[in-house]
Amino acid sequence: MNVVVLHGSARVGGDTDTLAEHFLRGLGGEETHSVTHFRPIEMEIAHCRGETCMGCSAGDGCVIQDDMQAVYPAFREAEVVVMASPMFWGYMTSQLKTLFDRFEAVVSPEYFGNKDFALLIGYRHYYGSMVEWLDRITAGFGSRSHAVLAQTYDPETGRDIPIADLPDKLAEATALGQDVAQRRAA
Ligand SMILES: Cc1cc2nc3c(=O)[nH]c(=O)nc-3n(C[C@H](O)[C@H](O)[C@H](O)COP(=O)(O)O)c2cc1C
Repeated sequence: MNVVVLHGSARVGGDTDTLAEHFLRGLGGEETHSVTHFRPIEMEIAHCRGETCMGCSAGDGCVIQDDMQAVYPAFREAEVVVMASPMFWGYMTSQLKTLFDRFEAVVSPEYFGNKDFALLIGYRHYYGSMVEWLDRITAGFGSRSHAVLAQTYDPETGRDIPIADLPDKLAEATALGQDVAQRRAA
């Protein structure tokens, strides 16, 4: 399968990267699938300028020539899209949102249809906005959304919990990968 992993965190090997690693393991491993990783914090991705640009209205995609031009074809071909993001101020990180805003140029069933989206979230207090957002988008295109929601924080002590100390969440990510692989093979 073609798989795209969008890493929303700047922290390499952090909570959400680790969830993604376990999801991919469950899916069958990187050697079994064609997996492309994008880490927007390390990429040149300009903001969508909306109505002040609208270069995409000609129908040929986004006119901005930056690192998004590699993301578009990989995303179009992906059967599974992993979105691994910490919650920052109640939503996905700004670098991931900037990447997603640029999909405005390609909003269509060709890009968003027949996919399994796996949302892997690390959070302290709240994750609802991202789940609701993805559910709405995937439903609109007949795709499926799945989520692993890991509270990496103990409200009683006020301390963060490293994801390695949440083995149930890592197992849940692996099980989700297995489930998605089985469903797509059926
Ligand atoms: C700058 C910053 C802002 C954060 N804002 C939120 C927030 O608004 N809501 C929340 O639930 N967690 C918030 N968190 C907690 C992170 O989402 C959480 O620690 C996550 O597991 C980190 O994942 P990572 O290791 O993949 O970066 C914030 C963390 C940081 C560093």
